[in-house]
Amino acid sequence: MALRITVIGTGYLGATHAAAMAELGFEVLGLDVVPEKIETLSAGRVPMYEPGLEELLAKHVAGIEGSSGRLRFTTSWEEVAEFGDVHFVCVNTPQKHGEYACDMSFVDAAFGSLAPLLTRPALVVGKSTVPVGSAARLARLLDEEAPGEVELAWNPEFLREGFAVGDTLHPDRIVVGVASERAEKVLREVYATPIAEGSPFVVTDFPTAELVKTSANSFLATKISFINAMAEVCEAADGDVVKLAEAIGHDERIGSKFLRAGIGFGGGCLPKDIRAFMARAGELGADQALTFLREVDSINMRRRGHMVELAREAVGGTSFLGKRVAVLGATFKPDSDDVRDSPALNVAGQIHLQGGQVTVHDPKGIENARRLFPTLAYAETALETVRGADVVLHLTEWREYRELDPAELGGVVSHRIVLDGRNALDPAKWREAGWTFRAMGRPRA
Ligand code: UDX
Repeated sequence: MALRITVIGTGYLGATHAAAMAELGFEVLGLDVVPEKIETLSAGRVPMYEPGLEELLAKHVAGIEGSSGRLRFTTSWEEVAEFGDVHFVCVNTPQKHGEYACDMSFVDAAFGSLAPLLTRPALVVGKSTVPVGSAARLARLLDEEAPGEVELAWNPEFLREGFAVGDTLHPDRIVVGVASERAEKVLREVYATPIAEGSPFVVTDFPTAELVKTSANSFLATKISFINAMAEVCEAADGDVVKLAEAIGHDERIGSKFLRAGIGFGGGCLPKDIRAFMARAGELGADQALTFLREVDSINMRRRGHMVELAREAVGGTSFLGKRVAVLGATFKPDSDDVRDSPALNVAGQIHLQGGQVTVHDPKGIENARRLFPTLAYAETALETVRGADVVLHLTEWREYRELDPAELGGVVSHRIVLDGRNALDPAKWREAGWTFRAMGRPRA
């Protein structure tokens, strides 16, 4: 009989994973401890903006007309324990308040709730990003709480926000940390479709599987901070970091992806993952191995301050008092409504706190931004945002901003000065329309 799957935690990762599992043909039961989330998902709606996810969900949620009916949601642990052959744990692991380490309380609570209720054979699969060593500890917990044919596997997730559906259905690799052939066999069955499509299937032990995730994110963060460090040098030497990135990216060993200099990385993963990785390495006595990540983090955070300074210079060099600053972009990246640790909002907030009159626009993130920074002003359109502005800051590279008409915007601003914090706008187009255009790591002229 086909495996029955449960997904515990229905945030970005869990909601996408649940819908994808249903798409792959499995019967799926999703659980969350927040009843409102379950209500929303059961109605076929997604509590965040993720392209394609709502359509996929509606295609499978039971009770929706024309759906496959393979996907249901519940708040009942008993139901989940009774239903599942494979339980995916997808809860989040945020940064601990006031510490670098990650907060394992949601993972621990999930295992603590599920384990004592497991009365039939099951594979519990951790997907959350956790400090190395957690899987071994949780495997011991399962042995104690649910002896018998209950086993643990670790299967890190590499999905990117904005591409979550595609990344989950067609992963560029599947990594499984297992302790038995049986566990590997079950996961090969779960992922039979992407494996048949050619996704590499990498089988490891627990610690390696956990480390694959944190090291991949550390590498990506390092690549971004590397190019941002080059941007600093380019600014000092009058070089052009965009050309530099293009040129070094042609070297296949380097590759051109993740070499876009700007105000740096943010979001719910990279910043907290590199910090948790440093904290864990310290506990293991391997802190020296990761001291470079401290530099990666500080190069990244310096970018935000640098953008604030460029904006200050643009409005006269001394103070933001009485100056109008238009900010295009609030989310940490385009095609998302996620404002967690968003460099764009951080810059907007800093300028606001220094007395600037900041108006923010974002195609999808305004609601979340307003919740986090209620004192900033928000506008419905890019044109309204820049009206009367002394400087325009482009801080999240939404496609709609690349398609703006600089001449039209130029007609409503106080000063035609634009700062590109993402190196995504076309300087020639803006300059031709009479704008002073500055970007990070590029020559002024
Ligand atoms: C990341 C990883 O890519 C993903 O594999 C992992 O599962 C979760 O963390 P995500 O947080 O969705 O995914 O964002 P990502 O696309 O990696 O971008 C992270 C940040 O880096 C964004 O703020 C983005 O604007 C910034 N970035 C990215 C750059 O500043 N320059 C680049 O060249 C690329």
